[in-house]
Formats: sequence, structure tokens, C-alpha cells
Amino acid sequence: MDHRNKSSLGASLGVVALLAMACTTTPATQPPGTGTAAPTPTPTRAAATPTPAAATCPEGSTQIEVASWWTTGGEGNGLQKLFDKFNADNPGLCAYNAAIAGGAGTRAQAIFKARVLGGVPPDTLQVHMGHELLDTYVNGIEPPVLDPLDTSIIDPTKFPEGVVKIITGADGKVYTVPVNIHRANEMWYNKSVFESNSLTAPTTWDEFFTVGDALKALNPPIAPLALGDGGTGGGIWPFGMLFEDILIGELGVEGFNALWTDPAAWNDSKVTDALTTLKKVYDGYVNTDHNALTWDAANQLVIDGKAAMTLMGDWANGDYVAKNFTGYGWAPAPGNKDIYQALADSFPLPTLAQNKDATKKLLTFMASAEGQDIFNPYKGSIPANIDAGHPPADGLQYNDYQLSALADWKSNTVVPSMEHGAAASPPFKSAIEAALTAMQGGTDVAGTQTALAAAATDALGASQ
Ligand code: GAL
Repeated sequence: MDHRNKSSLGASLGVVALLAMACTTTPATQPPGTGTAAPTPTPTRAAATPTPAAATCPEGSTQIEVASWWTTGGEGNGLQKLFDKFNADNPGLCAYNAAIAGGAGTRAQAIFKARVLGGVPPDTLQVHMGHELLDTYVNGIEPPVLDPLDTSIIDPTKFPEGVVKIITGADGKVYTVPVNIHRANEMWYNKSVFESNSLTAPTTWDEFFTVGDALKALNPPIAPLALGDGGTGGGIWPFGMLFEDILIGELGVEGFNALWTDPAAWNDSKVTDALTTLKKVYDGYVNTDHNALTWDAANQLVIDGKAAMTLMGDWANGDYVAKNFTGYGWAPAPGNKDIYQALADSFPLPTLAQNKDATKKLLTFMASAEGQDIFNPYKGSIPANIDAGHPPADGLQYNDYQLSALADWKSNTVVPSMEHGAAASPPFKSAIEAALTAMQGGTDVAGTQTALAAAATDALGASQ
């Protein structure tokens, strides 16, 4: 199945990301403890302590430490299935998941960065395409910490052009293997909650508030929107995703893309409107225990019918698959029709990886249509390799959601995800999250917008 995006990810995601990179004044990331001096990673790696997960590998096997943050059902399952096939096909090699729990890499990312820049990297690690990869590990990092990948590992002609653009360094070389394309701006809902109350899934925020009021008036009331922006290993990022969904609806493709290249875009009155909607949703339509729940615990509220909807990336689809829950419906987030907000998980080759030849083999399999068709049906995402889309007859098949996502990917306009590394540099993302955290703490709409505009100016430089 060729699932090239017709509007080309490059036309929106790639260009936005690359433009944003060109404008950024953020200095290249330094390894811990080196202050502002040039990075000086150790030329040969120190011995790393094997993670407990390595114990699952047979004695004497060559272990491939794959550092990820995938611990929930759909996430862990997909990776494990991929490893099972790879390990069976490559006797003597053992790829294993050295996972650090915490959705969106809230805990893992800092640890991975410290290891890679500090000279004791895992053999490969989960990193999002775009700014997260290029700003943290590639552009301006001397001496290099990742090896470029040649066509024996990843054939760029088998990946969408826009994806290739943002996995390619300033030197024109490809630095990572994207294993999937996730959609971020999706609404998931419990069908029986809607059907039994004669309600229809909302397509606009106005409809959302009408439906939400009806759900709140039930006896007992049902939380309209499940949010999980806390809990163990959790973080503010699902609230950031909610904000991005509202921004996309208010600003449209061009206006949303401008946020990542032009600080003045944050002063727009539509950003004020988006923040006003965000505040209204937050103040009256989310579960009161959101700060105590992770994203998957919030998704469980939808499964249990304790909340009607959640806004989450399509790893929620993987969560439903893992939990054998079929009573869910999906639709673009309110106001997001025909816009596909994308991100990709990817795996690079650290220069100081311990078992490089074995890791190259694994990355080659991860890039292949075969590997992606084993992994993605569990993960909830669609494959990044354009030849994929044909799981083996005895394997898990893409489900109806994924078939709809494959169709949308071809027809929709693609925009990048801020919360998942594609649209903004990591410091810019952190500053946005700080402003949103302050908003939850009581900062008003005007104050939040001022903080966001200041964060954009810091990250992108003053407007031209
Ligand atoms: C994202 C990642 C997804 C999923 C999600 C929740 O950042 O790209 O693959 O794992 O976090 O953990």
C-alpha cells in the first residue's frame, strides 16, 4: 500500500520545522557538566550497567539495548512483537526494551540525552523526528554523537518526503529510522455513552460545550473530557495537546504553522480565543482528578464509561487494542477536520553504541515494510514506510481506525506536533508547558498569552 501524503508532509511539517530551525537562536545542546564549552564526549564508551530488562536475553547472546518509554500495553506489545521476529530471525542477537516509564518521554528523554551526550548511549533510543532529534543530537553537536545512516539501513525513497526532511541533518544525511506515523489531534469516545444518551460526537467546540453540558446534567454526571496530565511519570503534555487541538481549530493550517516560525503569531486575537476556549474546557469539562492520572489512566475512564471523550494521539488506539476494548468511536478533534497533526517515533545509531553491527541489523528491520507491519497494528499508528500496509496473514491486521487514518494521511493537510518533538525545539516546548502549568495555577488568559509570546521570542528571535 502506497500511503504517500498527497499534500506532502514536507510542504507543511518539513518546511515549518526547517524554517523554525533556521530561525532558532537556541544554542546547541551541551552535554551535562560542560557549561558553555564545546561538548567533549569520551572517545570510547565506559561500560554501562545493563538494565534489568537485559535479563530476558539468553546467556551469551549479543544484546541490543533499545531505550524507549514504551511500557503501556499497545506500546510495549508492538515493540516486543518486532523484537520477537527479529530475535528469531537472527540467532545470537537479542534486542530488548530498556524502557523508562512516563508517557511522551517525560522522564526518559532527559536520561537518554544525558547518556548519549555523556558517552554511554544505549544501542538505540526512541526519539521524535524533527526538532527533538535534530536540535538535541545532530545539528551543531561536535563531535557527533549519532552516525548517519546509509541506504543499506534506510532507503529514503521509501519514506514520505516531509518525513525525510526532518530526519535529515544540516549536512544532508539521514540520522534516524522512523517506525511509524502517529496522529496527535484525534478525539476518542465511548460509543455507548453517546448512544444511550442520544448524543452525537461533537465536531466543533460549540457542539462540545452543548454535549458536555448534557453529560454533566446526567444523574450521575459523566465527565465530558478525560484528561490525564499528571500521575506517576505523567506530565502536562496532554493539556498541551488539548491546547494544540484548539489552536489548530482556531488558526487553521497556516496560522498554526506560523506559531513555530514567527513569534508575532502568538499575539493574534485567535490565540486569545483559543486560550479562552482552553480555559473554559479546563474549568468546567474535564475530570477533577486529571492531575493525578496518566494519559492511559484517563483513557481507562473512557473505556469504563466514566468519561465520554478524550483527546489523545492514536497510541490511544493501541491502548484499546491491548485492552480488547471495541466500544470506541473516533473523529478529528473539534474543528480539526481534514488536518492531520503528525509525529513519528524513530531510532538512531549512537556513535558510541556498544553493539553497532547488531544494532544496524535491527534498525534495518525497523525501517522495513515487514518490521513496520508487525509493529504498527499493535502500536495504533500507521507505518512510515510507504511500502508497508500488508501485515502477514497470521499477524495482527490494521484495524478500522488505522485504515481510516491511512486514508486521511493521503487526503488531509499535515501539520507538526509541538508536544511530540516535531514543531518546536525542546526549550521552546518546555517554555510553552511552563506557561500552561502557570495557567492551570491561575494565570489568566492575557498573562498566559504574554508568557507564550515571550517564549516564542526567546526560541525564535524577535519578529522580522
Ligand atoms: C509519544 C510517543 C508515542 C506514545 C506517547 C505516549 O510521545 O510518540 O509513541 O508512546 O508518547 O507515551
